[in-house]
Amino acid sequence: MTPTRVTAERPLAVIGAMPEEVAPLLAAARDPLEEGEGPYRWHRATLDGVPVLIAACGIGKVNAAALTQALLGAGAAAVLFTGVAGGVDPGLRVGDLVVARDAVQHDVDVTPLGYDEGQVPGEPPVWAAEPGLRDLVADAAAEVAAVEGVRLVVGRVASGDAFVADPVRVADLRRRFAASCAEMEGAAVAQVCARWGVPWSIVRSVSDTADNDASVDFLAFTEVAARRAVAVVRGTLRRLA
Ligand code: ADE
Repeated sequence: MTPTRVTAERPLAVIGAMPEEVAPLLAAARDPLEEGEGPYRWHRATLDGVPVLIAACGIGKVNAAALTQALLGAGAAAVLFTGVAGGVDPGLRVGDLVVARDAVQHDVDVTPLGYDEGQVPGEPPVWAAEPGLRDLVADAAAEVAAVEGVRLVVGRVASGDAFVADPVRVADLRRRFAASCAEMEGAAVAQVCARWGVPWSIVRSVSDTADNDASVDFLAFTEVAARRAVAVVRGTLRRLA
């Protein structure tokens, strides 16, 4: 399915981990209607002329996977994940942008049984983003990067259930996975979407560089960085409308 097939019946799901990562989208949405299933909640709305489901999933891979499944059940035709990340590519600075070319779960290790590092048995070694939606998001991100004077990397998003705040771990993620950034949800969304054959994309803005200062920087820069990723989401919506 291509992302251009987004309709009222098959909206685009836009997910962030923390409420502040999707709050600007919700504030701009037209006619938001709260819906849900069991403990999961989202808003059905129109944003920039595109039918959307907007939700915050909570932190971590399990939360991300569970909400993604619920949103696919609610009819999502594609999923776009927005938020902040720790920069792993040494060229990335706070505020720069990363769009996923692919995603990997860096905390998975079944190598003793012959699988690649990060590979979940029965799944590919990494999940490749669907090119159509990836290029649309990358185009929107390139525009935001040019306007705001920041860098854009289209690269590998490494997800795991850990807040990375150690330069040794950063070097390890770079060496083992050629990761561009570290975060805690994207590859879980990718895994669920890939199972269903639904396009997914991830856009992240760098809130910290996952080093010894990461927790301080994360608190200081998350709001600004999250808004930059949201600007990319809205640029993507305008391209889909
Ligand atoms: N999200 C933002 N910064 C992060 C980090 N350093 N590690 C994991 N997830 C993050």
